[in-house]
Amino acid sequence: MPNTIYFGDNLPVLQSLPTESIDLIYIDPPFNTGRTQTRTQIRTERSTNGDRTGFGGRRYETIKIGSRGYADIFDDYLSFLEPRLSEAYRLLKTTGSLYFHIDYREVHYCKILLDMIFGRECFLNEIIWAYDYGGRPKNRWPAKHDNILLYVKDPEQYTFNQDAVDRIPYMAPGLVGEVKAARGKLPTDTWWHTIVATNGKEKTGYPTQKPLGVLRRIVTASSNPGDTVLDFFAGSGTTGAACVELGRQFVLVDNNPQSLDVMRKRFADIPDIVWVG
Ligand SMILES: C[S@@+](CC[C@H](N)C(=O)[O-])C[C@H]1O[C@@H](n2cnc3c(N)ncnc32)[C@H](O)[C@@H]1O
Repeated sequence: MPNTIYFGDNLPVLQSLPTESIDLIYIDPPFNTGRTQTRTQIRTERSTNGDRTGFGGRRYETIKIGSRGYADIFDDYLSFLEPRLSEAYRLLKTTGSLYFHIDYREVHYCKILLDMIFGRECFLNEIIWAYDYGGRPKNRWPAKHDNILLYVKDPEQYTFNQDAVDRIPYMAPGLVGEVKAARGKLPTDTWWHTIVATNGKEKTGYPTQKPLGVLRRIVTASSNPGDTVLDFFAGSGTTGAACVELGRQFVLVDNNPQSLDVMRKRFADIPDIVWVG
């Protein structure tokens, strides 16, 4: 598949792609779907001309006492995600993996949804991306991590290039000897990585941009050169940038014109990108 960037809602795009055509999916969906529902609060009063009938045929009048806008987080969010994740499952090759990036408030609900779509036996890891930036509330432990759930389509035959992954320094290099210390050790499921620096070279200006280092590690471990990687909540296109560096093909989708503006600049030097929509 050629490098392709779609502008539009990701659901119809996913539905249009061929079954088992993708080697790796990384997604970082927005927490809030932006849909706010309004719940109207009422009480009823006995009234001969009332609009409701109650026990014993008595008539009641409905009195509206107010409306409360609320973001219907759980029902709404999971029903937004479910059809998209089901499509993601269909699109993955049998050796494929899905990395699902979310925060500590939502991760447990999303884990259950993903268990239902992939099967619990296909859950491989919960990666903790730990950073240390920003304010520290005084009334609880400051939350300084995101959660990345890793699922594979088939736990018997998935791509995992452990040896190709970047290695990290030992905490006590003096205890392991010079050779091992120089080589470093494999990362565990807890990844310490700074956020995108506000004045760094990597910064695109897109508010929710994730660090290239995190995406590099994911793409290296769970795909091979020439493979096709899909990110259907692409934002600033970090997944695509990692693919360009590592010789993978990418398919990116976003429905925000600002995301497309950022990606146009980020990929200005990459020839032959197909832009759709
Ligand atoms: C958290 S951001 C992703 C950031 C990205 N990982 C990066 O490094 O820049 C989520 C993105 O999902 C996009 N999005 C939300 N709903 C969408 C939908 N239904 N279809 C396509 N894109 C959507 C938003 O426009 C936003 O850019």
